Amino acid sequence: MDSQQSLKRDLVLQEHMAKLIFDGKEVQVPDGEAIKEYGRQLGVPFGCEHGVCGTCKIDILSGAENLNELNEAEEDMERDRSHRLTCQCKILHGNVEIRF
Ligand code: FES
Repeated sequence: MDSQQSLKRDLVLQEHMAKLIFDGKEVQVPDGEAIKEYGRQLGVPFGCEHGVCGTCKIDILSGAENLNELNEAEEDMERDRSHRLTCQCKILHGNVEIRF
């Protein structure tokens, strides 16, 4: 693969990467992927990892529209579009800034 092809491939890959951001740090997440492991990299604490304990609660500072709809576990925990469970969310695309 020549450098032109390599650059093109990298650009295509970047187009399909979302970003999870906390306190100036960011990690790239493939579009459509669960954010749990990426949140862990940013320091989000976890307990059950199944949407039951609430340990992984996060506030969404920006980009709430870039996450999937709330699931049943999040609704049971009375979460909303701006207050999610890291172990239950998927990022669809774009940037999402969090606080915990
Ligand atoms: S780790 Fe328990 S709800 Fe997410």
